[in-house]
Amino acid sequence: MKYDIKDANLAKKGALRIEWAREYMPVLKLIEERFKKERPFKGMTISGCLHVTTETAVLAITLKKGGANVFLCASNPLSTQDDVAASLVKDHKISVFAKKGENRSTYYAHISAVLSRKPNITIDDGADLVSTIHTKQRDLLKDIIGGTEETTTGIIRLRNLERSGKLLYPIIAVNDADTKHLFDNRYGTGQSTVDGIIRATNRLLAGSHLVVCGYGWCGRGVAMRARGMGANVTVCEVEPLRALEAVMDGYRVAPIKDASRYADIFVTATGDISVLDKAHFKFMKDGVILANTGHFNVEININALKKMSTKVRKIRDYVEEYTLRSGKRVNVLADGRLVNLAAAEGHPAHVMDMSFANQALASMYLTENKGKLKRKVYGVPQDIDREIARLKLKSMGVKINSLTNEQEKYLRSWEAGT
Ligand code: ADE
Repeated sequence: MKYDIKDANLAKKGALRIEWAREYMPVLKLIEERFKKERPFKGMTISGCLHVTTETAVLAITLKKGGANVFLCASNPLSTQDDVAASLVKDHKISVFAKKGENRSTYYAHISAVLSRKPNITIDDGADLVSTIHTKQRDLLKDIIGGTEETTTGIIRLRNLERSGKLLYPIIAVNDADTKHLFDNRYGTGQSTVDGIIRATNRLLAGSHLVVCGYGWCGRGVAMRARGMGANVTVCEVEPLRALEAVMDGYRVAPIKDASRYADIFVTATGDISVLDKAHFKFMKDGVILANTGHFNVEININALKKMSTKVRKIRDYVEEYTLRSGKRVNVLADGRLVNLAAAEGHPAHVMDMSFANQALASMYLTENKGKLKRKVYGVPQDIDREIARLKLKSMGVKINSLTNEQEKYLRSWEAGT
């Protein structure tokens, strides 16, 4: 069995942390029971490019219980939990190719390693497997029945590929499921981003000025949680509708340049490049903190910041201090990579339970519909989404009402008015 991990001796610690996460993933546990009986992936190979965390470990084990040969590499050079990688290899015989802090060439070598197993299903978080297959390894297409995608950035890339007419196999957009983005992107990113900023800096949020760039589901989550800890939150947006929503949610809304003059902490959550750039750095306050929670490390233009700086030093774990010619200092967290996964542990298992229940059931859906799907990006079927919500509520001991026959009939009618 081939693998490439940092240290197999970390397995014991990883096993305990996986056990802890599993306790908070009851929906995935139910799916595992089902997979053990039905073995939907018997004889199949699944290659995943995901953040190698305790929660991803629970997903990988679930897929293996369903009969799959599972190969895993990292979807970000800084997000791998090395103890988890060790336990997956030693305790579960799952091939993992991921090391926290791996450089760009190792990152892509690890992608090649999981693709060399000729997957039948690809599971992406950011579309790096799909893009590598489409640009360099088209020979793999004959074995692939479909793929799934976890995150907003990946969906944007895949829809662009689809629009250009060049998408070569069906994809299920897991991120588009309500039980994914309404919870993972909002409450998961909200909590874990604040967690990452605090672990890296130990800054008090109460009374600080925190600026969130982007008011999608992730930005909303960050704004909501930062406000909950007493920060004065400003939202920066380009979409009028989202900006208006932020205004009515009670946030100050301003252009980035204006916010640069008073912000203590910036968090980018847009999915776009150079959101914080030269034009902003020069107006920022001494000691400002810049963090990114978007998928790629492109949102803070670190090259421009380097060029403007006379000195760079690592002042704490995950904190690089850039001194500008003016003498002002700008602190960048986690090299501008996902602060929640680099400096903290990513989203809690409680929300990843729903995201990865979607991944597991979407993968099963691909096997059930082998050969029937087009080269398109599909949403997660609504019955799967609703079933996950139902199971999650059940696991939390929350009961809800159901419609009476009379109410159902009323909702289907048009005749009755006032
Ligand atoms: N993305 C965000 N948080 C995550 C986690 N805990 N595991 C896997 N992927 C994630």
